Amino acid sequence: MIDAYQASSQARVNAALEPLFVAPSPEMNRLYEIMRYSVMNGGKRIRPSLAYAACEALGAPAELANGAACAVELIHAYSLVHDDLPAMDDDDLRRGQPTPHKAFDEAYAILAGDGLQSLAFSALLDPRLNSANAEISMRMVTTLALAAGPAGMVGGQAIDMNSINLKPDRQALEHMHRHKTGALIEATTHLGALASGCAETTQLMALQAYSQAIGLAFQVQDDILDIESHTAILGKRQGADIARNKLTYPMLLGLEAAKVYVLELRDQALDALISFDAAAESLRSLARYIVARRY
Ligand code: IPE
Ligand code: IPE
Ligand code: MG
Ligand code: MG
Ligand code: MG
Repeated sequence: MIDAYQASSQARVNAALEPLFVAPSPEMNRLYEIMRYSVMNGGKRIRPSLAYAACEALGAPAELANGAACAVELIHAYSLVHDDLPAMDDDDLRRGQPTPHKAFDEAYAILAGDGLQSLAFSALLDPRLNSANAEISMRMVTTLALAAGPAGMVGGQAIDMNSINLKPDRQALEHMHRHKTGALIEATTHLGALASGCAETTQLMALQAYSQAIGLAFQVQDDILDIESHTAILGKRQGADIARNKLTYPMLLGLEAAKVYVLELRDQALDALISFDAAAESLRSLARYIVARRY
């Protein structure tokens, strides 16, 4: 079931994203080409799936969340382009292909990331992708800006850059993961729910508890896969964290305890959805998928 749901979410978000990469003039061809390369290159599209599923959990059609789905995937794609740069994780493989700075060059990869970040906000408010009223749209912009910026993902990435060779500390590690990966995932379900146009505060709070749990689980599973999976399956270099002495959950707790922890977080996420009916089934399936995925 989750495979079919993800396939339909991927097709929906890809169709919405595709038209964003048409260069307005010939001298911009290379910039638009690298932005397209960085986004339309596979990817599981978990964040768009979560945005659509949150919208549907409130009884609204998934299409209402197209702006939200594109926006979070564009922020995510930009974060990966910059995360892979030589000054950061220095990775040469992403989604099974050379990273953008390898396929193009570093300056263009930096610019592509910058461009994708701005595109995320224009996609969020594009009337073809978002029909929310002005008040809800304003709340959406604020949500995305906070989650993507220094109080969210960028702040987490900054902590990550300083975590190399640091003394393992569980609280600090959780803080880092909740920022670098959790913040955008938390914003994703919030945006999907807002896009429904009918989100109530209690529902938003339940979705927040759900996404905080799976947001952290997502990065812990990413840390586990860095040890357990294989480069050909992951589409990125296995063992990259160990090679760079990154502070991760398996490093802190040991591999087996990290695996137990992701299952606990999955259960916390499922418990948070207790008051939702069958319309939240895709959200439940996504929580199970996030901790069982192999790439
Ligand atoms: C990888 O994210 C980076 C993290 C935030 C852990 P994904 O595992 O969602 O990567 P793609 O989008 O499927 O390539
Ligand atoms: C990435 O964390 C977090 C963001 C890109 C914001 P990682 O550095 O662990 O992601 P991968 O493993 O390179 O995908
Ligand atoms: Mg990183
Ligand atoms: Mg990385
Ligand atoms: Mg990783």
